[in-house]
Amino acid sequence: MKFNFDEYVDRNEYPTLKWSKSFLAEYFGNENAIPMSVADMDLKSPPAVIEALQKRASHGIYGYEYRPESFYNAMLAWYRDRYGWEIHREQIEPSPSILSAVSILINQHSDEGDGVIIQPPVFFEFRMVIRSNRRKIVRNPLKLVNGHYQIDFEDLERKASDPNNKVLILCSPHNPVGRVWTRVELEQISEICKRHNVFVIADEIHGDFVFSPHHFVPYLSVDDGDNSAACLSPGKTFNISGVVDAITVIPNENHRRLFHDFTHRYQINRVNVFATAAMESAYREGGEWLNELLKYIRGNVDFIMEYLNQNDNGVSLIDPEGTFLAWLDFRKLGLDARELARFLAQDAKLALAPGHWFGREGAGFARMTIGCPRKTIQKALENLTLATSKLRKSS
Ligand SMILES: Cc1ncc(COP(=O)(O)O)c(C=O)c1O
Repeated sequence: MKFNFDEYVDRNEYPTLKWSKSFLAEYFGNENAIPMSVADMDLKSPPAVIEALQKRASHGIYGYEYRPESFYNAMLAWYRDRYGWEIHREQIEPSPSILSAVSILINQHSDEGDGVIIQPPVFFEFRMVIRSNRRKIVRNPLKLVNGHYQIDFEDLERKASDPNNKVLILCSPHNPVGRVWTRVELEQISEICKRHNVFVIADEIHGDFVFSPHHFVPYLSVDDGDNSAACLSPGKTFNISGVVDAITVIPNENHRRLFHDFTHRYQINRVNVFATAAMESAYREGGEWLNELLKYIRGNVDFIMEYLNQNDNGVSLIDPEGTFLAWLDFRKLGLDARELARFLAQDAKLALAPGHWFGREGAGFARMTIGCPRKTIQKALENLTLATSKLRKSS
């Protein structure tokens, strides 16, 4: 491999959320737990991105900038070349982050008290954003069939047909279960939501993390975009979440104007000089690095699979089709949600995101972030084996 993903980098040098002792103490009651809960990577960004940031920093002047056309060209080429998706330049609106875009879109396409559909177990911040907009959370739970998560389309049809439910947040690929939705599934979502006039917010932040033979299908390549928007960001892909902003693609002109007016009204349309440097260099030069990274992450998945097969500790892995997240199934341990969270943090000394954070459907599971050197995963699995064998002896 040209890039060294095995390199251990000490993240404690900076106030890193995932590694901070106070975060670990507050959420896990154990400041020494191995930090694997936050969805960012313990891996250095592509050399091209590091160089672009160093170059930009060394200029010494960081006054107001505008986003150059070269930035948009790099981003458009990324989606065209990797996914065959032609994004129209004029359909792009910037926003500070994916979640701010999701929140604005919820606000603009529903009223207080209306329902927003999500597909749990799913990224927990969706619930917070729905609640903070005073909308109602409407659940269309995924079905787990023979170790494979599926969309319950009958239930989606029911929820979408309720006129009080105005928006669906689609997590594509899906955090935490690692499903990469197929073209057929996305077409079905589009057809149902169009028929019932439900606005679809496609959160595609994990779109670049897809393992062969699966393919990322952008939602707006199957839907006409008349009542939908896609939220994109290279933040996860290149491990630059702390420096980037987000890109929202809104094909419908009226919807786009609404979004544009909002970001201008609240002046959240500014661009950061470092975000521009990081994002443009990543889109322009990060392809080869990402191809290697995907192999490494898939290697981490295979490593976990093999380890769990060889060490019968009652834990199994839902085989992910994408993302850098491992959704582990602990149900055989027979612990309730609270006991499992305690067991992982205290006995196994692991800070994993407990499954119930993602909705009640996640109880009995936990999410491990596997964008890290394989050694970290090995240590985590060894901790787990030790703790499960103690648990078995005591029961
Ligand atoms: C599905 C999903 N959407 C959004 C985000 C957050 O994106 P941002 O930091 O741009 O708001 C995350 C981060 O974990 C995520 O997993």
